[in-house]
Amino acid sequence: MIQQERFCSLPDYPFSRLRNLLDKVKPLGETLDFSIGEPKHSVPSFVAGEIVKHTNQLNNYPANFGSKKLLEAISLWLASRYSINPPSPDTDLMALNGSREGIFNATLALCNKNIDAVKPVILIPNPFYQCYLAAALAADAEPVFVPAMPSNSFLPDFSKISKKTLNRTSILMMCSPSNPQGAVADLNYWKSLLNLAELYGFKIFSDEVYSEIYRGIKPIGILQASAKLFHDPEKSLSFNSLSKRSNLPGLRSGFVCGGQRSIKSIKKLRSYGGAPLPIPVQEVSILAWSDEKHVEKNRKLYRKKYELADSVFKHFEGYNSPNAGFFLWLRVGNGEKLTYSLWKNHGVRCLPGAYLTNQKKNTKNFNDPGFDFIRIALVNSVEKTMVGLKKVAESLQAHPEKEI
Ligand SMILES: Cc1ncc(COP(=O)(O)O)c(C=O)c1O
Repeated sequence: MIQQERFCSLPDYPFSRLRNLLDKVKPLGETLDFSIGEPKHSVPSFVAGEIVKHTNQLNNYPANFGSKKLLEAISLWLASRYSINPPSPDTDLMALNGSREGIFNATLALCNKNIDAVKPVILIPNPFYQCYLAAALAADAEPVFVPAMPSNSFLPDFSKISKKTLNRTSILMMCSPSNPQGAVADLNYWKSLLNLAELYGFKIFSDEVYSEIYRGIKPIGILQASAKLFHDPEKSLSFNSLSKRSNLPGLRSGFVCGGQRSIKSIKKLRSYGGAPLPIPVQEVSILAWSDEKHVEKNRKLYRKKYELADSVFKHFEGYNSPNAGFFLWLRVGNGEKLTYSLWKNHGVRCLPGAYLTNQKKNTKNFNDPGFDFIRIALVNSVEKTMVGLKKVAESLQAHPEKEI
């Protein structure tokens, strides 16, 4: 019998593909990295002291689901951020080591089982945060990709999915504000997703890690939409973290909030195989969720960079000025070719859009929603961002779309 590893169909991770593309090339001049979505603004001032203050508690096993104090801080934050009733720290919330492991493990806990050899479906936007695919495969589900195109303001149109597929759907992954396009779902959009979820009995995993990085109106989240529209709380799960909000991706601290039954199932799995947050991390997280000043400061820096991007690219046809998040999703012709030439000729490292999509090239009429794009992470200082964006614009001007 031929044996196959469970994850053999996973493509190489985008950054390893990027290394394969670029690492053999010696770039010209000083290098600037816009490829990884790793916040580079400063760590909040209260972090170091709080970690040190609690190091003597490292000889304790931490609470599996987060301490009561941490869950209370998160509950208060959610209530104030989304004008909802505070979720119960005991039943509606759980701390996570960042949202990535949370989304992955919650998928294992909540995805339906294969019944009569019919695989459950997990709906995934395309392009997408790569964890969603691995989670679907780990749960032995069929990932079904739904394109997020300029024609839909980069929000996937889930209403186009066939009834047959919706009947098999167990989880719908949604990311708002979205990585990579910075698209934000409004109440009407949430309404149609929540209606679908109730009609077909699936859950929505709402990845909201970019919720605090926005330029205009505060993005609404799934908990707020669900409460406003009186939907069944068991259909909605919100994932968030301190990684982008507080520039703390290295802390590994996030949470999931959802219906009591969903959270109970995730907690059950976590009791067996989860890694709880170290106590000093939980203590810092309490301070971070309770403070908005550092978040506002952070947001202001990103807003400056959106303005820079607008000033540099506003004359480029089809430029998508993001509403939120910290990426530019630029239409450039052949994204991989431009990435290569930007690195070789200008030392600017970005990510080809096609590395973030599912590319079923054998599908009839398949139109890769990432092929034409590059993703630029606006994570560097305002000064470095200015230099890098100008180089991208020069390169685009020198090589208009058809020649790239
Ligand atoms: C869309 C999206 N979701 C989730 C994550 C994971 O973030 P973390 O695990 O640090 O919370 C990222 C990180 O880049 C992301 O871009």
